[in-house]
Amino acid sequence: MTQTSELINALADKHGRNRENLLSVLQGVVRQEHYLSESTMVEIAREMDLPAAEVYGTATFYSFLEYKKMGQYVIRICKTITCSMKGKNQILLTIEDMLKIGVGETTPDRKFTVLQTNCLGWCHKAPAMLINDEVYTELTPEKVREILSEYLKK
Ligand code: FES
Repeated sequence: MTQTSELINALADKHGRNRENLLSVLQGVVRQEHYLSESTMVEIAREMDLPAAEVYGTATFYSFLEYKKMGQYVIRICKTITCSMKGKNQILLTIEDMLKIGVGETTPDRKFTVLQTNCLGWCHKAPAMLINDEVYTELTPEKVREILSEYLKK
């Protein structure tokens, strides 16, 4: 077994092998390896008994495929309708202003990458964002400044 296979196996054991566990498994792989290759997706599909296209679709949907040159902390801001209507742009502007980078960019020290993503399933507490696998909801510019200040200290 390769290291990646072992990781996938351990993550599937931990989170479960149902369709709804796929996101957690993908996040686990990306956190550990900082990259999601095609062969890894095929292995995940095999391990979870899902069509490879579904794994690929989910990874694409949450922009996990762009993981190649990501920072230590990947911020994913939900761009879907509820979050958009509840001030997502303000959140994004606050982040861009604090980190001095735009969407799709990584800070020169490789600490942060900013991305937009599709609905994270927290619409009832919009606007929402993920920092790695941590979810932050009901965001306001003030709240975002506080959260990022903590990460900047790390
Ligand atoms: Fe943003 Fe659902 S629309 S979490």
